[in-house]
Amino acid sequence: VPENDPSVLFTTAGMQQFKPYYTNPESAIKDFGSKNIVTAQKCIRTGDIDEVGDATHLTFFEMLGNFSFGGYGRREAINYAHDFIIKELGLDISYVTFYKGEGVVPKDEESQKIWQELGVHDIREDGADVFWGPTGDSGPCGPTTEIYCKNADGQDVEIWKVVLNEYFWDGSREKLDKGEANLKKVDVLGIDTGMGLERLVATVQKKKNVYETDLFNNKETKDERIVADHVKASLFIISDGVVPSNTSRGYVLRRLIRRAVRFSKTPLKEEVLKVKEVYKGVYNLDDKGEIEKEEQKFKKTL
Ligand code: GLY
Repeated sequence: VPENDPSVLFTTAGMQQFKPYYTNPESAIKDFGSKNIVTAQKCIRTGDIDEVGDATHLTFFEMLGNFSFGGYGRREAINYAHDFIIKELGLDISYVTFYKGEGVVPKDEESQKIWQELGVHDIREDGADVFWGPTGDSGPCGPTTEIYCKNADGQDVEIWKVVLNEYFWDGSREKLDKGEANLKKVDVLGIDTGMGLERLVATVQKKKNVYETDLFNNKETKDERIVADHVKASLFIISDGVVPSNTSRGYVLRRLIRRAVRFSKTPLKEEVLKVKEVYKGVYNLDDKGEIEKEEQKFKKTL
């Protein structure tokens, strides 16, 4: 649950809490003692809910990210990402992308060149998919360059997105996509990166999908996967202080629990215990009986 951004119900990206620093980079030193930051951020994204159960999509995930507000720029950010993937994790890069340019935003030739210099051969240009943000009703935004690696099924999976926050847009992404944007260039290029822990683990552990990793205990059918994802998301949301209701966050939570009930063949309690076991010692998860209570309520309604 975001602490300082009323424009969103849930934190959807690692950069969410850092939005103000992209237009006010000096305050990073004051607040964090550094221009450079790394985080592991709990995120909820419901926009992809219909994709949940495939190889890569989840409503709850942990986003690893590194951020810079004037400490380092494009070249360093791409170099760090490249070195981490190749040297630290020992993975091969399948291909990378860069922004092809549109309207006032030029083609990101600089990122293309940096990747070439690093010896990456498959460098693809892309459009709206590789322009990030803003989240909520306004914020930093800019071209991204993404890294894809192959999973054990030979599928290309987007592992990491390096966002180059060069602009500020005082409106939603929806308005930006309708061409109503009047993008303002920010004074200092901001770096924002996002690497989903679950996808990364699946790739490193040579699994075909995120549900085969030890973050999930091997879920085979799509129904089992949906239940596992939704119970996990619900448990994290409740642990952040939300209860099922008919409005706002509580309603999203209610919908997640009820959707899990519809796909589950057994009481959700079993899955609640499994999720707690996986995260024991890392996150203090407690659903305070809310999942079971909501499950009973829904079953009665049905
Ligand atoms: N802000 C980059 C990402 O969430 O992927």
